[in-house]
Amino acid sequence: MSLLLTNIGELVTNDPAEGRDDGPLGIIRDAAVLVEDGVVTWVGSTADAASRVGDLGGSDATETADFAHSAMSVVDAGGRAVIPGFVDSHTHLVFGGDRADEFAARMAGQRYAAGGIRSTVAATRAATDDELRARLAGFVAELHAQGTTTFEIKSGYGLSVADEARLVRLAGEVTDEVTFLGAHVVPFEFREDPALGDGAADVYVDLVVGEMLAACAPHSRWVDAFCERGAFTAEQSRRVLEAGAAAGLGVRVHGNQLGPGEGVRLAVDLDAASVDHCTYLSDDDVAALAASNTVATLLPGVEFSTRQPYPDARRLIDAGVTVALASDCNPGSSFTSSMPFCIAVAVRDMGMTPAEAVWASTAGGAAALRRTDVGAIRPGARADLVLLDAPSHVHLAYRPGVPLVASVWKDGALVA
Ligand code: NIG
Ligand code: FE
Repeated sequence: MSLLLTNIGELVTNDPAEGRDDGPLGIIRDAAVLVEDGVVTWVGSTADAASRVGDLGGSDATETADFAHSAMSVVDAGGRAVIPGFVDSHTHLVFGGDRADEFAARMAGQRYAAGGIRSTVAATRAATDDELRARLAGFVAELHAQGTTTFEIKSGYGLSVADEARLVRLAGEVTDEVTFLGAHVVPFEFREDPALGDGAADVYVDLVVGEMLAACAPHSRWVDAFCERGAFTAEQSRRVLEAGAAAGLGVRVHGNQLGPGEGVRLAVDLDAASVDHCTYLSDDDVAALAASNTVATLLPGVEFSTRQPYPDARRLIDAGVTVALASDCNPGSSFTSSMPFCIAVAVRDMGMTPAEAVWASTAGGAAALRRTDVGAIRPGARADLVLLDAPSHVHLAYRPGVPLVASVWKDGALVA
């Protein structure tokens, strides 16, 4: 089965080459894309497509010399823009309940405290597999409808061996990008145990690196730790991340979200694929990131929903750091699954240009997941494509809140 998109007014390839505009976006005007068996096989101009595949005619079953015996569906983009599917490299989508009351209290002046995570842990433990599955299916539909075609999901609201194992298994039913986040916070039953006292976090970390990791690693690709005051120290985080790496998992870190800290330097030291949040950075942190292979993933929904200062994307990009944008979709700090929303905020309040924000949401997310098969539209890439109801990618930031995603293909199949 083949798919030909023609008459694309602006094609964002993220594959810069001679004759293509706008730096890293590698824009082609009046473009066409050919997809065969879920993979992009050709990218060029609409005029060249016509000569390549014969008379297109707008029919949905055109047989040509090149594609004899294979039905081809042809989509006329009508001069609108096509971009790569968004790659959301940071979500926490397996959870029970919500925390709308906490959000309302924050908007009335209360501060965000990561301790709210424990209330979601209670609601998640109380939910059945099927309840969590139904919720996940809803989120996947929501992601697709907003143009996200690759997404990572973390555990971290189970925090017992059985519950964390359940969450990574459920996440694995909808994505290959599963992250074990047993080191999210110290759960209530450890923290409140008078026998453990100040040693509660270390005793919990013993469990995380032992039985919990053994149960979760077979279902995960990544290990993550929340390295922050009130969660885990750099030493505790390092224990978890090194144990995960020894079990074959790639490393990612939550760091420098609520204040300055050691998360970024730990991430760089361990060659993490990404360190996420990066709101409070020293000059040394920025220099270390610039000299590393670690992506700085910024999460605009968090600062929006917690009324904290936004991370400074401009400073990072100007220093040569690779920046990704992700939603961090979770019920506490950022309950949005919308990458267009993140783009609009990043452009408005974090010093990014529209082109940088679109790149960070597609190719940047792919880099944060160390993937080369997604995040770009070039021969050999997965055919994850978003047709916008707009003439250019700029409209994603220029028209905030407007549903501009018209059609979405994942692996060449229409999903929204
Ligand atoms: O990435 N920072 C830690 N974890 C989540 C928040 C989770 C929550 O508040 O439930 C985050 O922001
Ligand atoms: Fe997070």
